[in-house]
Amino acid sequence: MRINFDPAINIAVKAARRAASVINQAANQLELLSIEAKAPNDFVTDVDRAAESVIVDILREAFPDHGILAEESGRSEAENQAEYVWVIDPLDGTTNFIHGFPQYAVSIALTRKGVSEHAVIFNPVSNELFTASRGRGAFMNDRRIRVSRRLRLADALLGTGFPFRQFSHAEAYIAMFRELTQKSAGLRRAGAAALDLAFVACGRLDGFWEIGLSPWDMAAGTLLIQEAGGFVADFDGEGEFLKTGNVVAGTPKVFTELLNVVQSCWRNRA
Ligand code: IPD
Ligand code: CA
Ligand code: CA
Repeated sequence: MRINFDPAINIAVKAARRAASVINQAANQLELLSIEAKAPNDFVTDVDRAAESVIVDILREAFPDHGILAEESGRSEAENQAEYVWVIDPLDGTTNFIHGFPQYAVSIALTRKGVSEHAVIFNPVSNELFTASRGRGAFMNDRRIRVSRRLRLADALLGTGFPFRQFSHAEAYIAMFRELTQKSAGLRRAGAAALDLAFVACGRLDGFWEIGLSPWDMAAGTLLIQEAGGFVADFDGEGEFLKTGNVVAGTPKVFTELLNVVQSCWRNRA
C-alpha cells in the first residue's frame, strides 16, 4: 500500500503507469519505432508523443484548472499564468530507449508557483515507483527512502550527464569531470537524469550534477532528493535550478564538497 494518499499523487501514478505500458509495448518492437531528430542529438519517437498524450489526458480530466508543461507539446500562454503546473517528461532517456538500453523513465511533477510539490518517477523496466510530496517524505514502491550516509566526496559514487547538446559548456564540463574523476570514488553517466536523481534519493548514488537540463528532467527528481534528506541547488548554491537548468545534488556532506568543485570550475569558465 502506498503511504501517500494525496489525490495529485494517485492520479499522477495512474498516468505514469499508463504511459509506462505504452512504453513497454513499444520496447518489444523497437524495430518499428519512428524516430525524428528535433535538433542534433535530440530525438523524439512516436512513443514519447503517445506516452505524453496519455499522461496529459488523464491529468487534464482530473485537474482542468491546472497548467501543463510537457516536453513534447510545450505550453500555452494562458497556462503560464496557472498557479499549479504539471511538469512532464513522458520518456526521460529517449536515446537509451531507442537503443534498448534499459535505463529510462516517466517523470511527472506538480509545481505550485514554480516549486515542486508532488513528484512521481516510474521506471517501466524495473517497475520501481518513486513518489514524494513536499513535507511528507520520499518513497520507493511504498518504502520510505533516504539519501545515503556517505560523508566524503572521496567515497562518493556520482551521477552526471554530458553536455552533448550545448557544446558551449564543454570546456567547463571537462574541467569538472577532470577534477571529480580524481576526487570521487567514481562517475556514472546512465542517460536518464530523472532516474539519476531518483537514485540519489534512494542512496544508489551519493551525488549528481549536470549542466543545461530542462525543468521536466528534474522537477520530480529534485523533490525526491529533498524529501529523502538530501540537498539540491543551482551552480550558485541557490534554489533556481528549474530556471537555470544547472543542478548539483547529493547527501548533505557530499553536496557541499561537490558544489565547491562545480562552482569553482563554472566561475572560472572562459
Ligand atoms: C535527457 C536525459 C539525459 C540528459 C539530457 C536530457 P530526454 O532527456 O535526461 O540524461 O543528459 O540532458 O535531455 O531527452 O531523454 O528526455
Ligand atoms: Ca528528459
Ligand atoms: Ca523526454
